[in-house]
Amino acid sequence: MDYGYFRQFLDGLEGVSGYRFMIADPDGFPLLSEGPAGCLERITELAVQIARENAFRSVSSPGSFFAGVPLMHGSDVAGSLIACSNGNGQAEIGKQQVFKLEKLLVSVSSMMEEKWATQRETEQMSQELAQLVEHIYLYSRIAPQIKTLSFSGGMLKELIGELLSTMRMEFVFSLFPGRPELDFMVGSRKMEGLPRFIQKLFACIPPDSPSLAENYFVLNDSRSVPAFAALHPDPFRFLAVRIQDKGKYYGWLGMASFNMRETFRRSELRLLISISEQVAGVVTNAELYGELERFVINVVESLVAAIEAKDIYTRGHSERVNRYCLMIADEMGMEAPERSVLHWAAILHDVGKIGIPENILNKPGRLDDEEFRIIKSHPEKGFNILKPLAPLAKSLEGILHHHERFGGGGYPRGLKGEDIPFHARIIAVADTFDAVNSDRAYRSAKHPREALRIVEESAGTQLDPDIVRVFMKAFPSIISEDGEK
Ligand SMILES: [Fe+2]
Repeated sequence: MDYGYFRQFLDGLEGVSGYRFMIADPDGFPLLSEGPAGCLERITELAVQIARENAFRSVSSPGSFFAGVPLMHGSDVAGSLIACSNGNGQAEIGKQQVFKLEKLLVSVSSMMEEKWATQRETEQMSQELAQLVEHIYLYSRIAPQIKTLSFSGGMLKELIGELLSTMRMEFVFSLFPGRPELDFMVGSRKMEGLPRFIQKLFACIPPDSPSLAENYFVLNDSRSVPAFAALHPDPFRFLAVRIQDKGKYYGWLGMASFNMRETFRRSELRLLISISEQVAGVVTNAELYGELERFVINVVESLVAAIEAKDIYTRGHSERVNRYCLMIADEMGMEAPERSVLHWAAILHDVGKIGIPENILNKPGRLDDEEFRIIKSHPEKGFNILKPLAPLAKSLEGILHHHERFGGGGYPRGLKGEDIPFHARIIAVADTFDAVNSDRAYRSAKHPREALRIVEESAGTQLDPDIVRVFMKAFPSIISEDGEK
């Protein structure tokens, strides 16, 4: 508390009242001015009595008179404000005068207390404000991360680490029942048996706690609830918020601390609630995305089965083209995400044939111009069939352009060289090899070495020579897997 602030005021008061003022702590030690010489012991005794009895008290000693009131700080006695007759020989004062002095002391002390209370409030407000700014900063760092669709355990762990450092907690953790890969706990100090302690914390949350209606639970002192008190010999506080989206419950985000000098603030609860809402939204999206992906895989499998059922000569073609493409990808050291895009394009490159009449697909002789025009529409048909499936968006280019020719003159756009999308150029090599190497309506399969020679001869005209070179390197493994056909 700031006593110095009152020095000038008390000095002025001394001039007009004839009393000398001092402030002592509850043990009687002087905090502001010591009083007349030789009176220290008397003043100390009076200060201790005032603090103990929390009331106005006075005492006379030869040549002096002392009176004082307690100074309150919140509900605690912080000390006393004492007036003395300034050693002016006024040892005895009348009752009326004592009453007036008490009134004066009470009003001065209330003024001081009020000033401290305002000071305390301002300090608290600026502390809260500083914390709020920190929370906003944390939120601004986290929000873009957790809005992405690619929710992962690593991301959640990072988020929990951020919460630990920003909210100055001792432990922060997530608990997803049935999904242990999303259970994380980080601590700023070591604790024996932490995972078990956290499990028990959640188990002790009373199901009828009213705050659960708002999806949170807060405990500022474990000693107030026996079930929690039994979990650890030291008192602790615990805050947990449910991760829940549109009524679907996923788990909890929680924090705990053994630092009992502070309590959980409203702003901390609000921050934790908004982060949990974000996490829940992302988990829902990730689940929907997973479902969508599974749905797309099912659709793709049925589409491939449907084409192969129609085109008897190309049975297994999609799968083989996929295999060759992935061998080329591995030879190139392609990263997993891109490999997956190529994989879907390869599996689905001929999916547009689903819209081509069977009599054209399986015609044994040469196709006439009109029939050839219809066959040539299959890349575009495939592109249009798959366009609505978002997870396949990146694979569409490879499907649309797999019949372009490196030297130009292919279809559907007549692109040339590196204007042809990279994946389409890879599929073209694999597709050409498999087409020559398998039976067709109009001719029978050629030996793989012969097929390979044809592929090599097409480098630069029909096929990208760089990719053909990579394919040649992968060729021995193709031979050994397919055997001598
Ligand atoms: Fe094709």
